[in-house]
Amino acid sequence: MSPSALPAWPYPFWIAHRGAGKLAPENTLAAFRLGASHGWRMFECDAKLSQDGVLFLLHDDSLERTSNGQGMAGDQAWAALSQLDAGAWHSRRYAGEPLLTLERLAHWCLANHLRLNLEIKPGTGADVATGAAVAQAVARLWQGQPVVPLLSSFSSAALDAARRTAPALPRALLLEALPPDWLTQARTLDCMAVVAEHRCWNAETVGAAHAAGLRTLSYTVNDAAEADRLMALGTDGIITDRVDFFSPAA
Ligand code: G3P
Ligand code: MG
Repeated sequence: MSPSALPAWPYPFWIAHRGAGKLAPENTLAAFRLGASHGWRMFECDAKLSQDGVLFLLHDDSLERTSNGQGMAGDQAWAALSQLDAGAWHSRRYAGEPLLTLERLAHWCLANHLRLNLEIKPGTGADVATGAAVAQAVARLWQGQPVVPLLSSFSSAALDAARRTAPALPRALLLEALPPDWLTQARTLDCMAVVAEHRCWNAETVGAAHAAGLRTLSYTVNDAAEADRLMALGTDGIITDRVDFFSPAA
């Protein structure tokens, strides 16, 4: 398959990881604002479900690393989660920054014409519920928009639930390594892209993905020589922490 047979791709090449990488508290609105102030137009982030069904951003299953809360985030109601400080752990200037709901982020992205790669990050055992909830919310929040978030996940169960809930939303399979059946997995989930740990990509794997009609993205690339290698290979996107180092012009 020639490159022209790849699916249309409405996203920029450069994607800021968790909002602004490590410069601001990850997955908070402060991080997205900082990333945008450096010129970034697309952001990766991690979405999960509260105990009472509110979608919000958090990378870990538990609250300790990136907030002043304790325990498993998915076991707690949004009324409690919304009171937490998700900024002080990072640095004093961000003390009091709250956790961010997907709904709030959607309004901010739409108001500022910014794109998202929404990683579905289910708590333990919540793969299907989270995949379905994210797809339903994105279909509602971005209804009628010309460009909608790219949904991605390491969880094939979550991606499958998203596919069944809102088949038209674009999906990407996240992979830390390429198993023998990686192309079959991506095709079965009707994905547009594979987002892989950057060392997975070489001429052979990029060629195989493109021949299968799949875009190729990398996480998390913080090194200029590695970014150059991935661009020379003809890959389709890079997720990075280094929003103050790389130029997101592309
Ligand atoms: O979505 C790409 C990347 O964020 C996946 O790894 O652990 O940073 O969510 P992680
Ligand atoms: Mg992520």
